Amino acid sequence: MKLLEARPLSSGCVILRYEPSETKRGFAAVNGCMSTFQNSTQTDVRPAAASGTFAIGGDLPVHRLGFGAMRITGPGIWGEPADHDEAIAVLKAAVELGITIIDTADSYGPEVSERLIAQALYPYPADLVIATKAGLVRPGPGDWEPDGRPEHLRAAVEGSLRRLRLERIDLLQLHRPDPKVPFDDQVNTLVELQREGKIRHVGLSNVSVEQLKAARRIAAIVSVQNLYNLSDRSAEDVVAYCTHENIAFIPWFPLATGDLARTGGTLARVAHAHGALPAQVALAWLLAKSPVILPIPGTSKVKHLKENLEGARLRLSESDLQELQ
Ligand SMILES: NC(=O)c1ccc[n+]([C@@H]2O[C@H](COP(=O)([O-])OP(=O)(O)OC[C@H]3O[C@@H](n4cnc5c(N)ncnc54)[C@H](OP(=O)(O)O)[C@@H]3O)[C@@H](O)[C@H]2O)c1
Repeated sequence: MKLLEARPLSSGCVILRYEPSETKRGFAAVNGCMSTFQNSTQTDVRPAAASGTFAIGGDLPVHRLGFGAMRITGPGIWGEPADHDEAIAVLKAAVELGITIIDTADSYGPEVSERLIAQALYPYPADLVIATKAGLVRPGPGDWEPDGRPEHLRAAVEGSLRRLRLERIDLLQLHRPDPKVPFDDQVNTLVELQREGKIRHVGLSNVSVEQLKAARRIAAIVSVQNLYNLSDRSAEDVVAYCTHENIAFIPWFPLATGDLARTGGTLARVAHAHGALPAQVALAWLLAKSPVILPIPGTSKVKHLKENLEGARLRLSESDLQELQ
């Protein structure tokens, strides 16, 4: 079999691409880990690809395991990151390792996360979807307040377009419904921005099934981003609704802010049985839970990013899933 290309990545991985043999089977090595696949010239061997794909809104295919870019800011999700170079390295490695959806928000930093994404990745790879959010303002570190006034949402989207250096945002999610503003007005503003060509798809965050249904009477909602992980399943009804309706469900705190990377008990037992890390089991569980789930674990460290991506390759058995129920 003829080696066509050996592409070293700055993340330390090397992608080897072989000419397909007559049987259309090839081999590739990523970080020394051999895998076989059909038709080697076409198969994406980057780790995130092992999580499978989901087409957001039917026309934006992404690898299901993504990256949450909230943790590349300072403490309290405020200001610059402690290690700027590492934050840039995390973003570059995420893309090199096959992540095709990065979640961010104008309020992360504020502005810092979006600015770093553009600094690290612009001009963007064609297959990268940057999902950002509008609707929260930041009085200070650790403080978040909803602002769903149409004029604020408009200004926020303009700011995100400028910082991300985009002409159109692929996925704009309302960060949290503002109880002071009629919900329909908030959704309608995003629909208007969509008609103006500034937003491709509209998503919601921190909503109930009832709010989601109400929004769908006004707009084509393609994603919902709610808190959901192995230890907090309060959004189970929203996950079920999104699964039934083929709407992307993007669970935030997929690692319970790191607790699931540390925790003992059942998670550690299943992890040990697979020679895996607890964080990888937590992410594999989300991926197995529903084909519409797109986990976006956050980290400020390349080491943790690589660990988390291995969760994409982990296949939990029926008995693992029962044990984790
Ligand atoms: N829509 C919303 O209201 C909302 C709210 C919160 C978050 N989000 C989004 O959801 C994303 C994910 O949530 P999150 O980042 O807050 O929480 P998370 O993914 O559950 O956990 C992130 C935390 O876990 C640690 N961690 C990550 N990988 C690890 C590993 N392999 N081993 C040990 N520790 C690890 C990180 O610390 P290190 O930096 O040290 O790795 C970080 O503190 C965010 O980035 C953001 O994009 C949305």
